[in-house]
Amino acid sequence: MPGAIYAEGLVKTFGDVTALDGVDLDVPEGTVLGLLGPNGAGKTTTVRVLTTLLQPDRGTAVVAGIDVLKHPNEVRRSIGLSGQFAAVDEYLTGRENLQMVGQLYQLNGKAAKARAGELLDRFNLADAADRPAKTYSGGMRRRLDLAAALVVSPPVMFMDEPTTGLDPRNRQQLWEVIQELVAGGTTLLLTTQYLEEADRLAHDICVVDHGKVIARGSSDQLKARTGGERVEVVVHQSDQIAPARDVLAGFGKGEVAIEEHTRRLTVPVTGGAKLLAEVIRELDTRGVEIDDIGLRRPTLDDVFISLTGHAAEAPPEEDDEGVDATPETRKEAAK
Ligand SMILES: Nc1ncnc2c1ncn2[C@@H]1O[C@H](COP(=O)(O)OP(=O)(O)O)[C@@H](O)[C@H]1O
Ligand SMILES: [Mg+2]
Repeated sequence: MPGAIYAEGLVKTFGDVTALDGVDLDVPEGTVLGLLGPNGAGKTTTVRVLTTLLQPDRGTAVVAGIDVLKHPNEVRRSIGLSGQFAAVDEYLTGRENLQMVGQLYQLNGKAAKARAGELLDRFNLADAADRPAKTYSGGMRRRLDLAAALVVSPPVMFMDEPTTGLDPRNRQQLWEVIQELVAGGTTLLLTTQYLEEADRLAHDICVVDHGKVIARGSSDQLKARTGGERVEVVVHQSDQIAPARDVLAGFGKGEVAIEEHTRRLTVPVTGGAKLLAEVIRELDTRGVEIDDIGLRRPTLDDVFISLTGHAAEAPPEEDDEGVDATPETRKEAAK
């Protein structure tokens, strides 16, 4: 049985740009799929197709059991999307905005009020709750928009880069809200440029590039595929690089990489912690003084680099004092 979000062979071109080049997805109910990819990979286009905002040229999509192309209105009733459906009214306060969304979704007045208060707290908007939204900074608007998408928990949620531009504290809080949402049974498709976010929240990850899914699996599976463990040593003095290299070459399963200016040597290994202990003993026997040594497993960053050929870009963080509420950043936040 297909999952709560299912897509097969999605193709979308804009003029001569192929935004989607045959995307397949299958997200089991109650799980989180992280869609990871560099800028322009096709993440937003995928989300727009799945949420009925854009017609694909080819392919099929089924969300919450409903055919996206045949019954878009029914799909819309079963999904939540941050940043799109939840339009913030500039002239209402943060609290009024959230209460209004609650009432639109048929919560009674008391329940809508309670939910609004809860979300204002969780998104650190309590102090600004009774100010009109037009006085909010870019970061605050973004948080209000996310809160609005979370007033009710639809069976399927889409979040397109929900924490881009949020500071670490607000990001952390959103992660907690997302985890609760998923614990309550919601299926979530999340796009992100923060690999840590995918690592932490996503059951499965799809890496997309040039409109294609180029890898999929759990974070651990992707890391294992990228390559095994490495021993990393930082020696105390430059003249110890050579003897340390000899030691590592004896234990390693590949070439010893040396970074002269940081006195750091790295070598691929198998054997884990036991091997590490042997390396330390041998370095000691040879009189090599070390500043640091460790067993390093590949991170999701390593996975991303090895798959796409470049590092994920870390987008700028919000400045909550309102300095970021320029038309430029608002446009960014609205994307
Ligand atoms: N409405 C559009 N018109 C023209 N090109 C578009 C449009 N939307 C997206 N694209 C192009 O499609 C590609 C994928 O874009 P997008 O899905 O926004 O990527 P991502 O969200 O991964 O950064 C990009 O090359 C982008 O420029
Ligand atoms: Mg995008």
